[in-house]
Amino acid sequence: MSRQAPAGYDARRLEDNDSLAAELPVEDTVKYLLDETRIPKFWYNIAADLPVSPPAVLHPGTFKPVSAADLAALFPDELIAQEVSTERDIEIPEPVREIYRQWRPSPLYRARRLEKLLDTPAKIYYKYEGVSPAGSHKPNTAVAQAFYNKQAGISRLTTETGAGQWGSSLAYAGALFGLEVLVFMVRVSYEQKPYRRALMEAYDARCVASPSAETASGRAVLAADPAHRGSLGIAISEAVELAAQRDDTKYALGSVLNHVLLHQTVVGKEAMAQLDMAGDYPDVIVACTGGGSNFAGIAFPFIGVQLRGGRKVRVVAVEPAACPSLTRGRYAYDFGDTAHLTPLAKMHTLGSSFTPPGFHAGGLRYHGMAPLVSHLKELGLIEAIACTQLECFDAGLRFARAEGILPAPEANHAVRGAIMEALRCKIEGRRETILFNLCGHGHFDMQAYIDYRAGKLVDHSYDEAELAMALAGLPAVPA
Ligand SMILES: Cc1ncc(COP(=O)(O)O)c(C=O)c1O
Repeated sequence: MSRQAPAGYDARRLEDNDSLAAELPVEDTVKYLLDETRIPKFWYNIAADLPVSPPAVLHPGTFKPVSAADLAALFPDELIAQEVSTERDIEIPEPVREIYRQWRPSPLYRARRLEKLLDTPAKIYYKYEGVSPAGSHKPNTAVAQAFYNKQAGISRLTTETGAGQWGSSLAYAGALFGLEVLVFMVRVSYEQKPYRRALMEAYDARCVASPSAETASGRAVLAADPAHRGSLGIAISEAVELAAQRDDTKYALGSVLNHVLLHQTVVGKEAMAQLDMAGDYPDVIVACTGGGSNFAGIAFPFIGVQLRGGRKVRVVAVEPAACPSLTRGRYAYDFGDTAHLTPLAKMHTLGSSFTPPGFHAGGLRYHGMAPLVSHLKELGLIEAIACTQLECFDAGLRFARAEGILPAPEANHAVRGAIMEALRCKIEGRRETILFNLCGHGHFDMQAYIDYRAGKLVDHSYDEAELAMALAGLPAVPA
């Protein structure tokens, strides 16, 4: 479902918010904080509550469901078991909870100054994942994945990264567990965000611009286009290729897969407890979607309540208009990477050869959507909208000037979605409760903000001809 910006969205200028410095009455709590004993002991697995099971992941050669043995070259057994588990509550290992204590539970804020700026009757809450060492939700799964790999005797991990948030999260987790980490970073981001690369190197990881000459997949892309700006699909191919070649090496993915979404559910579980402290419950939940993990993290525990007969909640995914997999993609079997080294998953996809334009929310430049998120969309349990880069930076700056936190360009999509909901409430005169995931800070994305303020950013549109070609190339899977 597509939603238009409510009338009046742009009517209020940023400079009009002088009065935001006014004092709040002490009973108007701003931060809802849980102590470390309240870190969840279990991840929530939505597969246990789904009315219809999601389509199986298929082997691209046989079109039969993949077996654990098919995945064993890439992932340790525990993660493969989580990928297919239908158990509702999956215990978080104690060493992982111990590390989570470094930043979890993360705060839940009531956005009182943003509410005031928007003059909305809605109550806006945001869960802030930017307090993690890497600055986003990504360490929630990086630490878990590093733990299970270490336990399985693995010494090296390969991965891809878009904006660098995931690469730096896995680099951090690798440093904690003594694992070597090799990150293929999408070239356009590698050039846009040099300090993310420096952070990965500070954690002792190696970061290579993708496409690279280090893999056959990278060399094939460079042979066709030496100046290729890269894509997450290509970077995944490079990381998977290397992991499959060595017994001491496995591959780690920062989004999309069931086990990654599972690990992120600590976000929603904590938010539920924090809203309970506030005596509140969301009418609508908003999150940005690249591969779907922060969205799933905040939303799945609440959708689970609904699926078990509890309160209903509207859930809105916000994606970039220049890479609109959920709103414009086809729900079909596709490869997770460009060189077709992965199994086939049924998901909303723009086609695995689609290269999104180089907009700044690098973490949202993926051709597909998590199969679980896609499945929920097909079941009508979630909605999706697409927003442009300029709309999202505008929303992010409004938010920063009211709440003080400068969001990551990816998180700006969630901010934009939440502001649209708040303004809808204003027009409709409804006092709804809006919860959104502020999944990361933008402190390594300052060049994007400099360029935005200098009027240098544009709204990229994707190439319709390329999209048609990428969709035409979808694998023909027998029904
Ligand atoms: C801050 C941030 N938010 C969101 C995303 C998108 O990933 P996902 O949709 O899995 O949350 C990324 C990916 O790199 C990210 O860095």
